[in-house]
Amino acid sequence: MKLMKKIVLTALVAATPMMAQVKEKIEVPYIPFPIKMGKGFDTVQANCLMCHSFGYILNQGRQPKKFWAGKVNKMIVHFKAPISDSDRKIIVNYLFKHYGNGKEQ
Ligand code: HEC
Repeated sequence: MKLMKKIVLTALVAATPMMAQVKEKIEVPYIPFPIKMGKGFDTVQANCLMCHSFGYILNQGRQPKKFWAGKVNKMIVHFKAPISDSDRKIIVNYLFKHYGNGKEQ
């Protein structure tokens, strides 16, 4: 029993660095519809899924381009996501193409 406690504690400590960086508990909802593959998906996968699942993106619903550009900027500015300028453009275009509502603004 004592050993079990130790294992649980170790697991918690091991999980701490990421929690400390994010400062918030991330709960990702279960989304039943599939991720759309396509041009730019690899870039999204490489840049967006290191902190949270694709659910955070899917959960927003269809949105204008400005919304997606704003979200990607928020990730960079607010959460310090290391995303290059060229990747940022690819990601915004991917999100708008697959999860956009056809409107720029
Ligand atoms: C450095 C970590 C990090 C990276 C990389 C990151 N995010 Fe996030 N993202 C977060 C955190 C933390 C939250 C949770 C904010 C909250 O719970 O309020 C979040 C939340 C979101 C949300 C939910 C809406 C919102 O405004 O909070 C969306 C959409 C999102 N991210 C999209 C993206 C996209 C697209 C990318 C890739 C360009 C990305 N994220 C990369 C940390 C990251």
